[in-house]
Formats: sequence, C-alpha cells, structure tokens
Amino acid sequence: MNSINSSLKKAAIIAVGAYVPEDKLTNADLEKMVDTNDDWIVARTGIKERRILKDPNKGTSFMAIEAARDLFNKKNINPKDIDAVIVATITPDMNVAATAAYVASEIGAENAFGFDLQAACSGFLYGMSTAASMIAGGRYKKVLLLGADKMSSIVDYTDRTTCIIFGDGAGAVLFENNDSGYGWEDEYFRSDGSGRAFLNIKAGGSLFPTSEQTLKDGMHNLYQDGKTVFKYAVSEMTNVAEKIMHRNGLDAANIAYFVPHQANKRIIDAIAKRVNLPNEQVMSNIEYFGNTTAATLPLLLNDYESKLSPGDRLVFAAFGGGFTWGAAYLTWAYNN
Ligand code: UT7
Repeated sequence: MNSINSSLKKAAIIAVGAYVPEDKLTNADLEKMVDTNDDWIVARTGIKERRILKDPNKGTSFMAIEAARDLFNKKNINPKDIDAVIVATITPDMNVAATAAYVASEIGAENAFGFDLQAACSGFLYGMSTAASMIAGGRYKKVLLLGADKMSSIVDYTDRTTCIIFGDGAGAVLFENNDSGYGWEDEYFRSDGSGRAFLNIKAGGSLFPTSEQTLKDGMHNLYQDGKTVFKYAVSEMTNVAEKIMHRNGLDAANIAYFVPHQANKRIIDAIAKRVNLPNEQVMSNIEYFGNTTAATLPLLLNDYESKLSPGDRLVFAAFGGGFTWGAAYLTWAYNN
C-alpha cells in the first residue's frame, strides 16, 4: 500500500531536459535488415523511426550528460546546487560502476552523490517516487533524475520482434522542495517476479555469468515474449491508472494529460480507451522515438513542457521488465 503523508514537504519538478542522438533508424532501414515492412510496424506498434547512438565509444552516460546539460541551460541551474543524481537505466555504461556517479562528476554536480536505479521501463516512474521521497524526508533539496537507455547496445538486430521497437535517448527532470503546493501527489506501484521469464537478458548476471556458451546462444541480447508482455501491460497499466484516478477523484474533465510509457501505440490506445481518456489528453511521441525504456516519460515531459501550466494534473503509468509497473499522480508546478 503506497500513500503519501501530506504533512511532509512536497517535491515538484522544476525543470526538464532531453537528448536524443541525431541518427535515425527508420522503418525503411529496418526493411533492409530483417524480414519486416513499414505497414506492419506502423500498424502493430505506431513507430516510424527511432534514434540510435551510433558512436561505439559513447554509452548511456553520454546521453544522460547531454540531457542534464540541456536542463541546466534551459533554466539556468547551477549543478553545484544538486544534492543527488539518480540514473534510471537498464543499459549502464558498465556493470558495478554506477553510471550516475560518472554523470554527476561530468556535469559538475560536485556536491552530489549518484546511484543507478534499475526497474526497466518502470525505472523513471520509480525514480520520480525515490527523488520525491528523498526531498519529502527533508534531507535533500534538489535531486536530478535522469532516464537514459542505449537500447541499441542490447538489441539483436536480426530479431524482428524486438529490433523494430527500441530506440536510444535520455531525459532529465529536476525535483526540488517547493512552495507552490504542487508536485508529487500519489503513487501506486506493483511488481510480479514471475514476469521475468517473459522479458529479460538472461546472461551476464549472477545466475548465468557470461560464457562462450551464453554468447553463442545469444543470451546477452534482450528477449521478450511480446504477446504476453503486451497483455500484461494493457491490463496492469489500466488497473493501476484506474486506482490512482479513482482514489484522487481524477477523470478526463480534470486531468490535463495521461503520460504513459511508450512501448507500443496499441498498448497506449487500449489503456486510454479503458480509462476513458480522449487522444488529445494522452501524451505520445512513440512515432519518432520508439521505446527508449527509462527515457520515455521524461522525453514526453520535454516535448509537452510548453503546453503545461501550474496546477495541471498529470497521471503517469508504466510497465516493464520484472515485471514492474505502476501509476502516479503529479501536479505541474511551473510555467515554461
Ligand atoms: O516496454 C516494455 C517492453 N515491451 C513491450 O511492451 C512490447 C509488448 N509487445 C508488443 O509490442 C507486440 O507484441 C509486438 C510489437 C512485439 C509484436 O506485435 P504482435 O501484434 O503481438 O505480433 P505477434 O507477435 O502476434 O506476431 C504476429 C505475426 C507473426 O506471424 P504469424 O505467426 O502470424 O505468421 C509474427 O511472426 O507477425 C509476425 N511478425 C512480424 N512481421 C513483420 C513479428 N514481428 C514482425 C515484424 N514484421 N517485425
């Protein structure tokens, strides 16, 4: 049971930033790589193109750093004022060494500590809760949350069931304790470990350390049972979104936008229909970026920032590997 103690400080998003690589991987490009076609991809996923970080010498941190710099430039933020840096990612630069620590050093957040958060496509959603709680607890004033994934580093570009969906990108938000009265309002998060059979990278962890055999078997690549993930994503994201909306008296008449993880346009449309929200109130950019895992939610906030006003009610929902999923309610705190 998650509930927010209203006597605590409210943490609000006070700035957003983003970075996507310049290189586009279009459906026409994919047609040359695997047995697929533009009509199938658009009809089944709503995706037309994705961005790919082609430089083999650049990892997820490169995009996270660029997104953070974009945020600093837009709102004239001094990195020295940041207390903590969280990077939500499933594609850290390296195992063991926290990507967030490197990012914090590179962006000049010299008074901050950094750690990574891994909850796949729910990573940014859980990260928002983590950042808001750190502030609500009174110990920290400014927490920089990044959602960044170089999905192209774990996707098998001979597997047409996964390579059509994923793209690379990064987004950033800055949470601050805030007097506006707006910010993080409520959350309802769930997980189900039986779901790990359906969406995973099997090798490279402690259960199946990398070996010649795991490499031969392609166990270092992202695997998904798309149909099963699709069904769970629709029903569970709907359940949690309904729960958050119901217990906060939210509906199409009083929310500004629904902000869903961008995995598949059909998933997004099915949920919106079930929770009675018209398309105009559903944020979407999957057409251009595909599924960027931890980056989808901040990339949406960045794209829609100019349309948001103080007090606007936003309902987030995400679903991903684990399985992990959840929904949250946030009120927007600033004018662009
Ligand atoms: O962020 C969380 C992680 N991921 C997700 O949320 C993804 C959830 N799943 C999905 O988005 C969808 O299941 C996919 C897009 C992966 C697949 O779409 P689908 O509508 O579930 O297709 P399907 O797997 O049922 O396949 C239908 C047919 C099959 O052919 P047959 O058996 O009917 O002859 C597939 O072999 O489409 C075929 N197919 C393709 N055809 C052209 C599968 N992938 C492709 C492709 N191009 N890329």
